[in-house]
Order: sequence, then structure tokens, then C-alpha cells
Amino acid sequence: MANVTVIGAQWGDEGKGKIVDWLSERADVVARFQGGHNAGHTLVVGEKVYKLSLLPSGIVRGTLSVIGNGVVLDPWHFRDEVAKLKSQGVEITPANLQIAETCPLILPFHRDLDGLREDASGAGKIGTTRRGIGPAYEDKVGRRAIRVCDLAHLDDLDLQIDRLTAHHDALRAGFGEAPIDRAQLMADLTEIAAFILPFVKPVWLTLNKAKSEGKRILFEGAQGTLLDIDHGTYPFVTSSNTVAGTAASGTGLGPNGAGFVLGIVKAYTTRVGSGPFPTEQENDVGQRLGERGHEFGTVTGRKRRCGWFDAVLVRQSVAVSGVTGIALTKLDVLDGFEELKICVGYKIGDQSFDYLPAHAQDQAKAEPIYESIAGWSETTAGARSWAELPAQAIKYIRRIEELIGCPVTLVSTSPERDDTILVRDPFAD
Ligand code: GDP
Ligand code: IMO
Ligand code: MG
Repeated sequence: MANVTVIGAQWGDEGKGKIVDWLSERADVVARFQGGHNAGHTLVVGEKVYKLSLLPSGIVRGTLSVIGNGVVLDPWHFRDEVAKLKSQGVEITPANLQIAETCPLILPFHRDLDGLREDASGAGKIGTTRRGIGPAYEDKVGRRAIRVCDLAHLDDLDLQIDRLTAHHDALRAGFGEAPIDRAQLMADLTEIAAFILPFVKPVWLTLNKAKSEGKRILFEGAQGTLLDIDHGTYPFVTSSNTVAGTAASGTGLGPNGAGFVLGIVKAYTTRVGSGPFPTEQENDVGQRLGERGHEFGTVTGRKRRCGWFDAVLVRQSVAVSGVTGIALTKLDVLDGFEELKICVGYKIGDQSFDYLPAHAQDQAKAEPIYESIAGWSETTAGARSWAELPAQAIKYIRRIEELIGCPVTLVSTSPERDDTILVRDPFAD
């Protein structure tokens, strides 16, 4: 099975975009399967920096890219992102990009509701990207969504819009907002439909054909396992399943199509938004990691919270996603630290845990149990072979492998596409 499924194994921003871009040279199709334009995937190719939120990272190399049914799609954002990439020299046409007919749409009132709820939540806010992701998924599950295929049948939407407006107008009234303007909504949908429809295809069929022809499919996850709606630090999570299993349900390929599951793991830990983070360092260490790693959100520009590597969380992610191997990224950010710490367990009250308990209160109280390992003074930045890594950096990698119970497949040593060490080719497995 020559497919590869890439997922984030922490709280997102592990460097998935860079690794997907690097791997997409060997792929025939790249597929997004969940999330929406809450993602921010950065690709650095020479002097050029590409920031993708909704489009699969494979598009930058021109590889056939598909947006699966598990994604929630803001059609106006889609048009803007296509235009932005075009201005950077990336041509996006129906020949190299397909959108699943069954993707639910993110509409302007989803974005409104996301923001209104966040503003009203005070200290309890999630810290969402305010892009309407949660409200759009709620409407999907509530069977009220307008989907991409509806854009070809706008004259047949009355009942669906009745359902949607009945639901949203009640919520909006609670926030003192005006009801949805139906005429404006129809005008907006009519205007955008012409741009979207040429890209719309039965993506499940495209992927199944690719599979039967022995083509290589690369699945690109967004967010990370600790943001998964079921397995993450609920309620401080996103509204989709981010685990590898979603590659199947979010595209229509079937579970035996996932292939090699590649977990992307940052060599330390970051989180953007609210919620528990046991190894967070609100001190010089966190500051240094943030500065060296340029830890600012791609989508919102927010400063990311930083901390030590948490082997307990990554081990849990490896288990729930069935990770075959990991790509360890941003190793270079640790250059020059005299001592590194790795979390190997938690204390909550007088109890010890080798996993993160499910309840938010326990998660908030979890005190990390650390082991220390000497750092290295040499630079790993830009290393492209194992032989260029200092012995102590190799020790750090080996210890991580032991603690998480999973081998390292790739190591990334800078934002640049080719500053990547291949330990084992995931497509060859
Ligand atoms: P994603 O959401 O998982 O795709 O990750 P982001 O793109 O949001 O954040 C990762 C950031 O780290 C981006 O700015 C990348 O250019 C950068 N990056 C990726 N790999 C490395 C690496 O190995 N070293 C350094 N220093 N930066 C990296
Ligand atoms: P990539 O793909 C990091 C976080 C938000 C917030 C929570 C819910 O770049 O790794 P949402 O808007 O999804 O309802 O926000 O999830 N979040 C991310 N954090 N990387 C991401 O994507 C994220 N997408 C959402 O900060 O805490
Ligand atoms: Mg990101």
C-alpha cells in the first residue's frame, strides 16, 4: 500500500505543510480530509513562502489535489486563496484541483456566530480561529447544512434555508443580532456558485480510481490529535476528528487506503488558543523556544504557547492514530540549549499517570514528571543527512523514539523544503 497519511500528533502547527510539500513530489494525488481554513500550513521554497489554509499543500508542485467531503468549505475564502496563490505563480484549475460534492459550506453567519460566542465566553473562551468552523460542523451534523452540490440546485433550496434560518435566527436573536437576510444569502450563493462549480467532482470516485490504478495518494491532515473532537483536550479542541482514521471517512476511500500513517511531531510542544498544556513554560525557556521557532500562528498571528516535549501526549497520539512512523520537525530550534527536558508522566494529586486523563480539570492539574537530557552546542539547522547531526541530538531523537514507541522516519531541520533528512521512505512501505 503506497499511500501515506500525514497527521499532526500534538496541538497543530507541527510542520505538516512542509512535510506534505516535500512528500508530494512522490505522490500522484494529495487530499485534505477534515478541518477547513482554520489550518495554516507554511511552505518555504527558496525565496518563496506559501501559506495555505484550505488548499492541499500538494497544489504548489502542481500535483492533483482534492478537498474531501470531511472538509468544511468557505467558498469565498476558497476564491481568495486561489487568487493569492495565482499571484505567487501557482495556477489552480479544475485540472489540478477537485472539491467533493458533499462538503458542507461555511456561510457568513457561521463566522458571525463563532465570533459572537467567543466574545460572550469571557474566561471560558476556546480561542478559536473565528472562521466559522465549529458552527458549520454543527449544521452538518444537525442535517441543516448547505453543501457544495446544492450550488448547482439553488432553485431547490427553500426547505433547507427554512431549516437553517429557523435555527440561526433564534441563536442570533439571543445575541441581539438581526435575522439572516435570505435574499442576500441567495444572491451571495448565486454569485459564488459560478466560480466553485467547475471544481466540483465526485472525489470519492477520483480517489478510488487512483487507488485501483496503483497511484500514490497522500492524505494531508490539519490541526493535531490533541485538538481532535473525541481524543483531544475537550472542550478546547476543534470541531472535527483529526486522527488518521478520518482520512477514510473524510474522502470516501475506505480504511485500507490510509497506508503509512506519518505523525508529524515538533521536537518541543506548542499550542495556540486556550486549554490545558502540562509542559508549558511561561518563562525564559518558553520565550526562547517561541523566538527561535518563530512561534506565531499562521492564520491569526497569535503568539503560540511553548513548552518542553511531552512524550506522554505523543505516545497517546501514536496509539489513537495508529502512527507507523514520525517526522520530527524543528530540531534546529533546540540548538544551543544546555539541558532539555522531556515529560515522561504526570502527577495529579498523589496519583501518577502514564496517559492524559479525559477530564478537563484533571488535565489542568496534571504536573509533568520530567527527565533531563543534555543538549548540544553545535547547529543542526539545515542538516540534510543523519551524519550531520551532533551525537547528543541523535541521543535526544533515540530517547523520543523509545518513549513514544514509534520510529523516526523523517527529521526536519529548517523551514526550507529540502532541509529534510530521510530515514525511511514512507511511500516505500
Ligand atoms: P502546520 O500547520 O503543521 O503545517 O505548521 P505551520 O506551518 O503552521 O507551522 C510550522 C512553522 O515552522 C512554519 O513556519 C514552518 O515554515 C516552520 N518549520 C517547519 N519545519 C521546520 C523546521 O524543521 N525548522 C524550523 N526552524 N522551522 C520549521
Ligand atoms: P494547523 O492545520 C493550531 C485551534 C484554535 C483553537 C481550537 C479551535 O495549522 O495545524 P477552531 O477555529 O478550529 O474552532 O479553533 O483549535 N486550531 C489550531 N491550532 N493549528 C491549527 O491548524 C489549528 N486549527 C485550529 O487555535 O484553540
Ligand atoms: Mg499551522
